[in-house]
Amino acid sequence: MRFETWSSGIAALDVDCLVVGVFDESELTAEARRVDQAAGGRLGQLLGRGDFPGRAGETLLVADLPGLAAGRVLLSGLGPRKSFGRRPWRKAVSAAVAALGRTGVKSAAFALERPDAEALDDYYYGRALAELTHAALYRVNDLKSGKKPKPAALSRVLAEAASRGAAREIARGLAHGAAVAVAANMQRDLGNLPGNLCTPRYLAEHARGLARRHRSLSVKVLEETALRREKMGCLLAVAQGSAEPPQLIVLEHKGGKRGEAPVVLVGKGVTFDSGGISLKPGAEMDEMKYDMSGAAAVLATLSFAAEVKLPLNVVGIVGAVENMPDGKAVKPGDIVTSAAGLTVEILNTDAEGRLVLCDALHYARRFKPAAVIDLATLTGACVIALGHHHSGVLGNDEALVHELVEAGVRADDRAWPLPLTEEYGEQLKSNFADFANIGGRDGGAITAAAFLGKFTQGLHWAHMDIAGTAWQSGAHKGGTGRPTPLLADFLLRRAEA
Ligand code: BES
Ligand code: MN
Ligand code: ZN
Repeated sequence: MRFETWSSGIAALDVDCLVVGVFDESELTAEARRVDQAAGGRLGQLLGRGDFPGRAGETLLVADLPGLAAGRVLLSGLGPRKSFGRRPWRKAVSAAVAALGRTGVKSAAFALERPDAEALDDYYYGRALAELTHAALYRVNDLKSGKKPKPAALSRVLAEAASRGAAREIARGLAHGAAVAVAANMQRDLGNLPGNLCTPRYLAEHARGLARRHRSLSVKVLEETALRREKMGCLLAVAQGSAEPPQLIVLEHKGGKRGEAPVVLVGKGVTFDSGGISLKPGAEMDEMKYDMSGAAAVLATLSFAAEVKLPLNVVGIVGAVENMPDGKAVKPGDIVTSAAGLTVEILNTDAEGRLVLCDALHYARRFKPAAVIDLATLTGACVIALGHHHSGVLGNDEALVHELVEAGVRADDRAWPLPLTEEYGEQLKSNFADFANIGGRDGGAITAAAFLGKFTQGLHWAHMDIAGTAWQSGAHKGGTGRPTPLLADFLLRRAEA
């Protein structure tokens, strides 16, 4: 996909299609009025007949208007003018791109009304446009037999720029946005793959592929013998019930100064979570193939860092395992020793993510990190608390948590803080080991984070629970690519600072 800017002479623009906005009750936007004038009032006539009321998310393709170089105009509804802002705008862009994707349009110029600069500045306008374009054209990995769907013809998108300065900012945003979107779509691809294909070894191979493609990336994979040497008893306990061997993937982007403390991203890579001996109920168990979404976000974000040559050192650590019941599987009541030396009584084998993460987080210490952020589809309780709109953020560093929340606002990939005060840790008491791996039903998202907190003392650490945001259920089941946009924004800001 090529992204460019355009600035004047909408009637003479040499593209296949112009995209213009219409407010509720068929009210033309300023840009739409300009198109209407060039077209001798034909657009106004059409709207006058009530053919397009302008509801957000609806589109109408109009062909061969006179007076325009472009052969088509796509009307995209913006909803009521008084509630216009980022959300309806994003909806209108997505709907427009999806509609274009169903046509033969190869090039399209956006002349869609924008939210004001306070809500969306030029840079983020470019970024969002590129991200939304790629997201709307995304197709799931096609494992159906028979005729392959044709990819969309759209290959050139032009964003409107008011001035030269604006064009520069927009172009910067478009470039970043394209890289973010390609990374987010990579995360979606990995998540959408079924557990029999996307195994721990598949994730490791994917990381090796990234390292081959990008000079700034290097990869190391620790297998069972090495994991035993590292004394990762918790991670190995989860893996022992599976025929798939565990993999600890370490992917490094060296973009900063030598010796500069890196940001370390740690991902939960449970390629399928059956619950183990504490077996999950059958309904929607297939969705536990997405339990590696944190890992996928880490790999995607590292590929983003390499793609934009981010001037920052970033390390990705992925704990990749499959959680299965078996004669050899870990059982409730078993006590294992973590790499940190702390013992854990496994009271529920379905609370496996924290077991994988505690050893992966311990491994992060050797990088003397500036910050450690773990990403995990960790708890159903987080979905109960926040639903599907915000990821949960917790940690031992208020400033870091705030930084992530702010990145989420800018990237339209939002996260919300949950309290992580000492009391929650007390719910993890065990009669037999240092801690239990569960803290009861109440505050489940927080006690899970409190467990991780036992292993991150002295680090600047934050935990993101993405159980409610990394994929969608139902008719549109599929990965969302979240929180890769948030992480990309966080890293870009860190690189600027
Ligand atoms: N991967 C799940 C969390 C999950 C569940 C994410 C549903 C998205 C949707 C995790 O490993 C898990 O099973 N957590 C348990 C913890 C409990 C046993 C303390 C949960 O949330 O039920
Ligand atoms: Mn589980
Ligand atoms: Zn899990």
